[in-house]
Amino acid sequence: MTELVRVGISLPDDLLRRFDRRIADHGYTNRSEAIRDMIRERLVTDEWSDDRDEVAGTFTLVYDHHQGELVSRMLSIQHDHEGAVISTLHVHLDHDNCLEVLVLRGPAHRLRALTDELRALRGVKHTTLAMTSTGKNLL
Ligand code: NI
Repeated sequence: MTELVRVGISLPDDLLRRFDRRIADHGYTNRSEAIRDMIRERLVTDEWSDDRDEVAGTFTLVYDHHQGELVSRMLSIQHDHEGAVISTLHVHLDHDNCLEVLVLRGPAHRLRALTDELRALRGVKHTTLAMTSTGKNLL
């Protein structure tokens, strides 16, 4: 069980007012929970930018499966990064478009390379990367 520690911080009053308005808009009822979530989010972002860390995430792609060799290129890239893609979900959105969700886990630099290669393929229309962490230290 993680022990909670109290800390006091000093902030400019206008910054605190803006913070309180913003977290209320997002449904937080107390500052502590909002600050904890912001710290975790920042740490996960930093893990993704640090090549030493193992991270996890989901990568969502919308693409036109009629586009040239796109599907075989996507598969080749995934096989090149063997082990990084631990699960996939495929939905046929309409006649032309597919939506695919890749669940990723591995060293941050490998996952960034994989998602960069996929995003750049002709026929890939939109992607989103949801970065999270394997949570060894912080979640
Ligand atoms: Ni499809």
